[in-house]
Amino acid sequence: MTSMPAPIPDQAPIRACTVSRDIQNFDLLIEDMEAELGGGWGDIAFAEAQDFLEQPEARHLEFIAVAVGDADAANISAIGEIVEAAKRRGLRVLVIAEELSPIALHQLMRKGADDFVPYPLPEGALHDAVERLRRAGSPAPAPDPTCPRLSRSNRDGVVLPVQGLAGGVGASTFAVNLAWELSLIAGEVGGRVCLLDLDLQFGSAATYLDLPRKEAVFELLSDIAAMDGEGFLQALQVYRNELHVLTAPADILPLDIVGPDEINALIDMARSQFDFVVIDMPKTIVNWTEAVINRSHLYFALLALDMRSAQNALRVIRALKSEGLPRERLRFALNRAPKFTDLSGRGRARRLADSLDIEIALMLPDGGRSVTEAGDHGLLLAETAARSPLRKEIRKLALSLHDVGTAAAAAAQ
Ligand SMILES: Nc1ncnc2c1ncn2[C@@H]1O[C@H](COP(=O)(O)OP(=O)(O)O)[C@@H](O)[C@H]1O
Ligand SMILES: [Mg+2]
Repeated sequence: MTSMPAPIPDQAPIRACTVSRDIQNFDLLIEDMEAELGGGWGDIAFAEAQDFLEQPEARHLEFIAVAVGDADAANISAIGEIVEAAKRRGLRVLVIAEELSPIALHQLMRKGADDFVPYPLPEGALHDAVERLRRAGSPAPAPDPTCPRLSRSNRDGVVLPVQGLAGGVGASTFAVNLAWELSLIAGEVGGRVCLLDLDLQFGSAATYLDLPRKEAVFELLSDIAAMDGEGFLQALQVYRNELHVLTAPADILPLDIVGPDEINALIDMARSQFDFVVIDMPKTIVNWTEAVINRSHLYFALLALDMRSAQNALRVIRALKSEGLPRERLRFALNRAPKFTDLSGRGRARRLADSLDIEIALMLPDGGRSVTEAGDHGLLLAETAARSPLRKEIRKLALSLHDVGTAAAAAAQ
């Protein structure tokens, strides 16, 4: 007697699909997809992806994960077309990037990819990204990224301004990456973070995050007295469904278009909606700088290891003293700090701190050209240089700020 073939178990419906040149090159992705979806996923080669996306079964996918390696660089525009086709069909697209250049990654993100994770996948990274996609996809209709939602809870956000003590010391890079690291951490527990680019003339947050400069920002800033919650949120944009950003306006405005009262109103509004409010300040001291210092919990002052920064730091400290402003909130951060092994550099940093009679609270390593390249392509360190010492330092700070912020909020309840 011939044995009956074993019954085919009910096949799990396909909920997601990887798209790659050869999925065997991404064995960690295979493992993580299994963990996330069991048998409910499939794989398709780049060459067949466009055809597959036309099929009815593609319509019900939760997402596609496009796995791209260095070897696919020459093929990147065809892969971009796959991303575009998937987005046209309303699918969510996650890019899995292995040693991909910022330019190539930028190209895929511009085609509409929702998010990306580096490969090899850090522990839990795929799961977190899928959760983010699901969260972003849950409210119907699909959230309009230009129209953030008003939070019901009355928050009491931590205010963290960042000011460079000389041009180009890296204040905006620090502010933008700090805000993003905070939003990654806070987002896990339902916290919200916003970045206000108050460098009204040369603000670069829009560039570093590849966001357009909205007309509503000018409207908001020119009549803050009339601002309400909706108006404020209309002027914000959401970066990767997480970080809310008020970019600088499209046109260069006089810094005194706002005064202390307007700035106070703006910060209070932001605090009521967000758990953390990171502010990129202009490098000049303006008539509303004092208001920001008074509203701040910590005020980061970035400097470089040079005479310009040293002399400007001295003048800022003197100004704070003479105005009776809270000096203890200042946290000096030395950017492009000498490496641990650079003993003479370390010695110079120590002498700088001694001569200014300050403590350098943060030493931010030099990230080299990749930092500038990432900025030029509107990408963040967490995305292009997740393991770089500079990113690690900013993330460490974000973790500790988050702990302090949540402890303070709990104590205030
Ligand atoms: N730690 C760093 N390592 C390498 N490059 C950096 C670092 N910090 C900033 N940069 C680069 O320096 C330039 C100026 O930085 P930016 O943050 O715009 O300065 P600021 O806002 O103080 O004018 C940018 O090109 C940026 O990529
Ligand atoms: Mg700047």
